[in-house]
Amino acid sequence: KTEILKIDENNIDFEKIKYAAKVLKEGGLVVFPTETVYGLGADALNGKAVLKIFEAKGRPSDNPLIVHIACKEEIYNLMVDIPCDALKLMDKFWPGPLTLVGKKTSNVPDSVTAGLDTVAVRMPKNKIALSLIEEAKLPVAAPSANLSGRPSPTTAKHVIDDLNGRVDVIIEAGNSDIGVESTVLDITLWPPVILRPGGVSKEQLEEFLGKVDVDPSLTEKDLDGLIPKSPGMKYKHYSPKAELIVVEGEVSDVVGKINAIAGEYKEKGLSVGVLSTEQTKNLYNGAVVISLGDRLEPETIASNLFKALRDFDDLGVQIILAEAIDDKGIGFAVMNRMRKAAGYKIIHI
Ligand code: TXA
Ligand code: MG
Repeated sequence: KTEILKIDENNIDFEKIKYAAKVLKEGGLVVFPTETVYGLGADALNGKAVLKIFEAKGRPSDNPLIVHIACKEEIYNLMVDIPCDALKLMDKFWPGPLTLVGKKTSNVPDSVTAGLDTVAVRMPKNKIALSLIEEAKLPVAAPSANLSGRPSPTTAKHVIDDLNGRVDVIIEAGNSDIGVESTVLDITLWPPVILRPGGVSKEQLEEFLGKVDVDPSLTEKDLDGLIPKSPGMKYKHYSPKAELIVVEGEVSDVVGKINAIAGEYKEKGLSVGVLSTEQTKNLYNGAVVISLGDRLEPETIASNLFKALRDFDDLGVQIILAEAIDDKGIGFAVMNRMRKAAGYKIIHI
């Protein structure tokens, strides 16, 4: 049975934190809020506890986890060969949505790293997360607290929908601030390489480091026209139950194209949803429209994206047509998640 502990980030009940920390120390699973998305935590140094994470999520065992720490120095128990410039990154961006991947120490069990010789580490900013980790006196391995393949949870309700009955404790707190996951940065190479865009933007890293590389798989251009790039199931991720198609191009063209495709699907008797923005939400007819916010405010769009995908499922929509936004700033992370959720079904006009 899952215990649900409600905690207010601005008025933390430390008795509840102590209880959740005890569950972690005893090898149990605790879901906790972070500033990015909710995380499903276990003692990172306890291989058996970590295996329970994979079981609860239905996560493939070849996908490594991020280890969360509450003070920077803890990284030395987990990682070796840390470049001096990476220490500067920690000072600048921690606590916050930046995950560093570096060579692991022998303290880190293979189940955490999926057998890799590197480990991913971050220090979250959420005060509940920090006090939980501090109280447990453990590094905490935690993937996003969703069932594998589903959109990451940005509210406690999302977590309860996916994991109630599958974990020991769920800490119920407010909605995630950022709404997309941390940026994963490989510091075994220099300049470091962005493996996953996230809450810290490429531009922020560049401004600080001068140069940062991007893993080539993130910038691959997709096929033009109506033929979707064939993804292969291993890329399907963040997915709503409905089929999602992303439409990229000039906004006015995108609106026209979405209305045209929506018409075709409606003729086939399917119920259509449109993932739109404030500027365009009134331009669609006969579809269920959800606005992600002002298209000039990618932070707002990021914070609403995963919830919107889940809301479409609750509304029983069968096809979702999504407007692309600009790839700049956190928009890069938004578009990465959207393209993955679509299984790379992208129409470019
Ligand atoms: O914001 C976040 O990062 C959230 C919160 C809970 O902290 N966590 C999260 O974890 O998104 P997860 O498991 O959903 O994503 C972890 C990502 C995966 O893409 C995984 O492949 C990558 O980090 N990763 C973990 N360890 C790695 C390693 N040693 N080398 C390369 N990638 C790694
Ligand atoms: Mg995840």
